Amino acid sequence: MPVLFRNEFRSPLPRINEALVQRTAELLLVMTGIPDAELSLLLAGDKQIAELNSSWRGKNTPTNVLAFSMTEGPDSAMAFNLLGDIVISVETAAREAEYEGLSLHSRLQVLLVHGFLHLIGYDHEKSGSEAVRMHNKERELLQELTKKRREKMIKLAVNVDHVATLREARGTNEPDPVLAAGICELAGAEGIVVHLREDRRHIQDRDVRLLRQTVKTKLNLEMGATDEIIKFAMDIHPDMVTLVPEKRKELTTEGGLNVAGQKKKLKMVIAQLYDAGIPVSLFIDPDSRQIGAANDVGATFVEIHTGRYSDAAGEKERDREYELIAAAAEEAYEAGMRVNAGHGLNYFNTARIASLETIEELSIGHAIMARAIMVGLDQAVREMLGLMI
Ligand code: PXP
Repeated sequence: MPVLFRNEFRSPLPRINEALVQRTAELLLVMTGIPDAELSLLLAGDKQIAELNSSWRGKNTPTNVLAFSMTEGPDSAMAFNLLGDIVISVETAAREAEYEGLSLHSRLQVLLVHGFLHLIGYDHEKSGSEAVRMHNKERELLQELTKKRREKMIKLAVNVDHVATLREARGTNEPDPVLAAGICELAGAEGIVVHLREDRRHIQDRDVRLLRQTVKTKLNLEMGATDEIIKFAMDIHPDMVTLVPEKRKELTTEGGLNVAGQKKKLKMVIAQLYDAGIPVSLFIDPDSRQIGAANDVGATFVEIHTGRYSDAAGEKERDREYELIAAAAEEAYEAGMRVNAGHGLNYFNTARIASLETIEELSIGHAIMARAIMVGLDQAVREMLGLMI
């Protein structure tokens, strides 16, 4: 493992997108031509970094980043591809980010690049010309990182609710959403989503229990934050939960959750699920106030509601909604949350949303099931994946 990453700053806030930080470190190894080299990266608090600063540099104060290179001197470990250790104080980084008007993750990235360059032999303290050389390299790497923010393909999670809708229309036992989920996974879906509604209009408890046993990728349980369903989720233990607003009379989920209006309750529910090892996503409109609230209540993910974009009457309105989604996804990503999106996406409007580099997964149901009736489920999933490159 080229990057040995540890987060010892065990505090829910500020939230750290650990996968993002680790990936940045891995990218730095690739970008500088040493993909097989190894480094250790530790996120710490001020107290811990002050202790290290005191032991190793005789300075009894916190600092933002420390780099302990193993590539220099007679005991150089470069022969074994070991670069050394980088330690970053999240608390100092957060203060600096606020001062500079940056997101925490942007600041962490700058500090990581700085520490990394020290590990590979750059040293701004050596001389003026060396300081300029290091500064230029820092800028070059940061620019390249921005371009590489997402090179991995966006993931597709298929919502199989409407397989159950068809079954419930006849009150029989087919078609089975459990079987459908398996076909979706074989066709390349990387997640299965089901919405267990309070009125059990489509997905039943039995479906979720079986899916828990059969889904090989990731089971995302969509649900309202009611006591009964929360208890069920804790019992089933899906890979993640997406909290949505639920109204009895709606045909499908209508708007996003009003997180800002129920912060206290959601904070409690998220903590309860998080303690049980279930990360939570909040389904929200592309609205800065809701993003800020989702961050405040400790959501691991947000799912940006793409319904208004999908239902837009004309190009102008669609462009406006797209811009709102792009800005909201950027804001949530920069705040350290993981970003999904979905609702109303189909074979015509998905590619544009899939090209947003901050979104990691799309949740799509109705369009895929509608197409599956015509061409088969396997082909419908593969065609959708083909649009998400
Ligand atoms: N995401 C959420 C939170 C939803 O409620 C739904 C609908 O169940 C979807 C995504 C999928 O929407 P669609 O069926 O329109 O693709």
